[in-house]
Amino acid sequence: TQKEEPVEITFNEEVSKLYNYNLLNLSSKHKVWQYLKKREITRDLVEEFELGFATGSEIQKVIEENLFDKDIAKNTGLLINGEKEFFYNRLIIPLRNNVGELVGFAGRQIEEEMNSPKYLNTPENKFFKKSKILYRYYKNKKFIKENDFVILVEGYFDVISMYKLGFKNVVGILGSAFTKDHALELLKATNKVVTMYDMDESGQKVTLSTIDALFAKDFQIAVSKYPAKDPDELTKKHDNKYIAEILKSSYKFHEFIIDYYAEKYDLGNEFALEKYLKEMSRWYKKFENVGRISYLQSFIENISKKTGKGTEYIQKVLERTSA
Ligand code: CTP
Ligand code: MN
Ligand code: MN
Ligand code: MN
Ligand code: MN
Repeated sequence: TQKEEPVEITFNEEVSKLYNYNLLNLSSKHKVWQYLKKREITRDLVEEFELGFATGSEIQKVIEENLFDKDIAKNTGLLINGEKEFFYNRLIIPLRNNVGELVGFAGRQIEEEMNSPKYLNTPENKFFKKSKILYRYYKNKKFIKENDFVILVEGYFDVISMYKLGFKNVVGILGSAFTKDHALELLKATNKVVTMYDMDESGQKVTLSTIDALFAKDFQIAVSKYPAKDPDELTKKHDNKYIAEILKSSYKFHEFIIDYYAEKYDLGNEFALEKYLKEMSRWYKKFENVGRISYLQSFIENISKKTGKGTEYIQKVLERTSA
């Protein structure tokens, strides 16, 4: 016997069909298709990723035509105060949880609007929990298993573009945080991760938090660096051969940590160097605490190279400066 689907999920499916129908039936001259064209999203990709377009009348229509209770719509977050539609004039990206249930949506602006965020997501609710969902994991899990590694990216378009280029073992964190729940979920498919977050400061921060969530779980973590703002932009400038090379030449996560903080502190200055080594010590203790001792020696050696101080000195300082 099959478990019955919550009515909210059924409701989302109906709404999604309508959003998708809208998009597929709009003229190629419509601004949403112009937008998609600019981003090199084809009709095939629209179908594969179930993309849609919200005009702002879909929820009402689904309620009326399918005789859903208004409360159901409210539970999904798609109807504000039982009246206003949450998504209006946006490109819609359906968000399925890790078992494939349609739990929420993202809506992207298709033109610059003042006082309106670039993305709107379904508000957190009983079904939609950002901290648990990896975008496209339910679909790409088999490719992750096949390749025995996963590529982690930040955004929806990063996932779509990497997939388009043949890197199908990709999943997206929906924006900011990578959580322990994400880590446990990934572990069902692989213990090898390559991060490919945005090359800005916030992307670097997410890299650090990802390392933090993963290294305790016996993951092998590599960090890629590439000459573009994010993977989506990278795929517009380079072919898959080039990107495969980028992935292959990723950094070990402890090398990333050494370099990341080295850019924050002026290592020629004794005072700053001391602070830098305190940061290094904090990570050193973490690795030690979870038994990732195989990294400790190479960590020390790399810090020694970075700072020009001897390995014995570095080891002493790292072990002394406890966090
Ligand atoms: N995000 C969000 N809400 C925002 C901004 C970002 O939920 N206001 C999430 C989205 O999942 C987004 C991801 O964070 O895909 C990464 O954000 P960002 O790098 O700013 O956007 P891009 O994915 O690069 O968006 P785009 O390429 O469409 O500009
Ligand atoms: Mn494995
Ligand atoms: Mn970003
Ligand atoms: Mn980005
Ligand atoms: Mn982008």
